[in-house]
Amino acid sequence: MTFSRVDVAQVILGDCEYCPVDTFEAWSPVNIALCKYWGKRNGVLNLPVNDSLSVALPGKGTHTRVTRLQVGAKDIVFLNDRPVHEADSFYKKVVAHLDLFRLGRSDRFRVDTVNTIATAAGLASSASGFSALTRAVAGVQGFSLDDGALSILARLGSGSACRSIFEGFVRWHKGEAVDGMDSCAAPLSQVWPGLRLGVLTLTGSAKKVGSREGMARTVESTPLYSAWPVQAEADIAILEEAIAARDFEQLGATAEHNALTMHATMIASWPPLLYWEPESVAVMQKVWQMREDGVPVYLTMDAGPNVKLLFEAQVEGSIRQAFPDVEVVKLFP
Ligand code: PMV
Repeated sequence: MTFSRVDVAQVILGDCEYCPVDTFEAWSPVNIALCKYWGKRNGVLNLPVNDSLSVALPGKGTHTRVTRLQVGAKDIVFLNDRPVHEADSFYKKVVAHLDLFRLGRSDRFRVDTVNTIATAAGLASSASGFSALTRAVAGVQGFSLDDGALSILARLGSGSACRSIFEGFVRWHKGEAVDGMDSCAAPLSQVWPGLRLGVLTLTGSAKKVGSREGMARTVESTPLYSAWPVQAEADIAILEEAIAARDFEQLGATAEHNALTMHATMIASWPPLLYWEPESVAVMQKVWQMREDGVPVYLTMDAGPNVKLLFEAQVEGSIRQAFPDVEVVKLFP
């Protein structure tokens, strides 16, 4: 039996009371994975092959307002105060997500979405974007949903969006069910006030191969992929231990090794997928040199050329000195 996205939405929303309001606003943070999501077992429902674990970036993310329009109107989408054309793939993705919440009714909406991060920063705004859109459209329909249900619905827009429903450290449980009803994220209770993430924007150019296509290519074309879920599972256990013990070296080393293993599977795909630019490699070498010189700093990378640094507050001065353009994010209050 196969399930469509509409089937899943129907199961979650079918019994919810419909209490429409005129407008509803929501916010969601960007998240950066310390153990990455790479590979889907179901591409329609965005069901992952492996669990992943992320940390949210406070204050960096998406504000979304959904406003009810007259029945019969066309959905309208604004991104960062600019109208998005109906032919644009962003418009189509947003409308496809709104469709999940209409349940056969002819409700029409205006969506105003504003990212508080520069798109060029290489921080995926699709995760915070679909999470905020999910909260806002559920709110405008008056559906009362818990965060687990919101996480499942956000996942239907973009996999990593299920993690952006929560703040702090978040684990996405891959689940086993064919309809994905057990594939949702949940927050970890720990906080780590000294933990910092440094964003290095190396290039603003758009991704050549998006994560959907990149994942599919990796899963299909490299024998190295079979090792990935095994390592991801082991890494998550070590990361959870490191978080519980506040062991920074263990956290950083595991996150960096995990990211580079993901990139190794990408590079070994065919045609090859190399998201790195020469500047990315230069940063990696600098980070490794700093570690040799005794500065505890680690790196992680996603499906793009930008590098994110992980470090603790006491070395922030050395990091700023080595990377004058770094944007430092304090991850916990
Ligand atoms: O959710 P997507 O389709 O944007 O994929 C995210 C993939 C990575 O950013 C590379 C890893 C992750 O877990 O965020």
